[in-house]
Amino acid sequence: MKKVLVSYFSLTGNTTKMAEAVAAGARDAGAEVKLKNIKKTSLDDLKWADGIIIGSPTYYGQMAAVVKELFDNSSDIRGQLENKVGAAFTSSASIEGGNQTTLISIIQAMLIHSMIVIGDPMENRWALWGNSRRRAYQRIVSYLPNAWIEGCKASY
Ligand SMILES: Cc1cc2nc3c(=O)[nH]c(=O)nc-3n(C[C@H](O)[C@H](O)[C@H](O)COP(=O)(O)O)c2cc1C
Repeated sequence: MKKVLVSYFSLTGNTTKMAEAVAAGARDAGAEVKLKNIKKTSLDDLKWADGIIIGSPTYYGQMAAVVKELFDNSSDIRGQLENKVGAAFTSSASIEGGNQTTLISIIQAMLIHSMIVIGDPMENRWALWGNSRRRAYQRIVSYLPNAWIEGCKASY
């Protein structure tokens, strides 16, 4: 069974609700899911997962410091997250409040770990909430089979 870690930080509960929806989507798609607060997420949790989905509130257009702290600590396992599939989600006060740069800040760290990051599906161009958001994370699970990862390696 494919293993997915959904790790998130939330101060006032918005990102928690998103994390629960993301975890439900991954479970619907047949994955074994660990849903964890970032403060309780260990480096072993990162190593355990085939897919790592990180959620953070938007703080000044970036991931929250506690989320960055996990990435900073993950330099101890540099090289061990290679080819895991990564994804990110964020909650912000306003649509123009830097949520996209927050996602990029998380994705940047994933790319430096040589993880594989997949774009949102076309069907999500106009609606990133509710069921379509859930479908987006089901899609991430669908990218986890080894065959795809091997294919990806072969194409580079
Ligand atoms: C320190 C701090 C910085 C924030 N910076 C931004 C920001 O740059 N843009 C924005 O739209 N919202 C910003 N917000 C609002 C949060 O992103 C927003 O309320 C989010 O939904 C909180 O998520 P949570 O309920 O999971 O804690 C900030 C909030 C805090 C506490």
